Amino acid sequence: MAGAAQVQWSSRMAFIFAAVGSAVGLGNIWRFPYVAGENGGSAFILMYIAFVFLIGLPVLIAELSIGRRGGKSPIGSLGAIAKESAANPKWAWLGHIGTFGGGLGLLSFYSVIAGWVMSYVIQAATGAFSDITADAATAAMGEFTSNAGTVTFWHLLFIMVTVVIVGKGIKGGLEKAVTYLMPLLFLIILLLLGYSLATGDMVKTAEFLFTPDWSKINGSTALSALGQAFFSLSVTVGTMLAYGSYLPKDISLHKSGALIATADTLVALIAGLAIFPLVFAYGLAPDAGPSLIFKTLPIAFGQMPGGSFIATAFFVLLTIAAITSSISLLEPGVAYFEEKFGMTRWRAAIIGGAIAFAVGLMTVFSWNDAAEFLPLAWMGLEQLPNGKVANMGEIIDFTVSNIIMPVGGLLLAIFVGWFVSRDSMKDEMGLPEGGVFEIWHVLIKYVCPAALIWVLASGLGVF
Ligand code: PFF
Repeated sequence: MAGAAQVQWSSRMAFIFAAVGSAVGLGNIWRFPYVAGENGGSAFILMYIAFVFLIGLPVLIAELSIGRRGGKSPIGSLGAIAKESAANPKWAWLGHIGTFGGGLGLLSFYSVIAGWVMSYVIQAATGAFSDITADAATAAMGEFTSNAGTVTFWHLLFIMVTVVIVGKGIKGGLEKAVTYLMPLLFLIILLLLGYSLATGDMVKTAEFLFTPDWSKINGSTALSALGQAFFSLSVTVGTMLAYGSYLPKDISLHKSGALIATADTLVALIAGLAIFPLVFAYGLAPDAGPSLIFKTLPIAFGQMPGGSFIATAFFVLLTIAAITSSISLLEPGVAYFEEKFGMTRWRAAIIGGAIAFAVGLMTVFSWNDAAEFLPLAWMGLEQLPNGKVANMGEIIDFTVSNIIMPVGGLLLAIFVGWFVSRDSMKDEMGLPEGGVFEIWHVLIKYVCPAALIWVLASGLGVF
């Protein structure tokens, strides 16, 4: 199938930077450490790694293959592949759910957090964390989150940065941004790791990260691990379908997929190894949840030598990681608007950004003015299955991460495993019968659907 007038990545390296940039984000540095912390550490981490390689990676390879073969927007490519395989054209709806429910839905709250991160760059650089006490750190965090105007300002600023990069196009925008930002990202993270290893509490960290306590594992932690795996790999929301559609034919999909998943997992582990030694060295708790980096870490930064510099480097790192991911969240919607409505890229990027901005306001207000508003209380749902208060922000996060992404992954695996022609996938992946192809096909056809059904059902309390 032809990817007709599509633009392409200029090199394999450009694609790998873009895809790793998408995968490595707030999910690795902000979300992974705190979700691991909340779920008891190492047992969760082992399960997470198993999910990344047994479920996430096959789905990632499937998305890259469909994207490249279809050569269109995620929605267009799914439709084209369904047609090629004489499957029901309605499978393209999976692309709608991913692009809008997943991609723009995720971007809506991703950018609120990313805006918060950006504001902390300024705080860190101006020495606001020096000698900060626990109470003062809590107050500083509260001061930010309770002010809807400030949160909205940073959310808007972050969306605007995202829109400008995406508006400039694949080569002039995305590719250029990742070419500068990704090397910087790796440099900063290694610097922080070195600092942590030299000054932090490695003994407690090793115990926390590497001695599994299996009693911590249950349906809900399994669902969190799975949600985290999909979230971190940027699958099930159209991103990898879109990035795949810009891939030249001679690039190996399974090798690229394996490289992306490995790099992504390493960065998550490195983030854990950079953050927890500092948390433990200053006697702080690893299970503070989302505020781990916004409250716990600043307390540690405030006490350590060179803390302001390290804190600034840390929040710059997070900002970079967030930008190279947010652009990939906007891309599927933009590709679709261009294809479907013939819009210019700029217009499509502005409209997509505006949608994410508007939806994101629900998250903004659930941190302050509407914190007590529980929209599902009328049906008795004041708490989500993961124990969080069911306000608007938590509902959006839970729906995207723990429902849309796993269900999207499940449907995609069923589609690819059972409805897409096996030969066309083999042809696209450029692999002979047997070997790697067979392993991938068994994983996507049987293992992924079975595991996803089981994890979803137990995580949502069905059994
Ligand atoms: N993978 C990104 C992270 O870990 O922060 C988040 C993300 C980006 C998810 C792009 C999904 C996506 F399509």
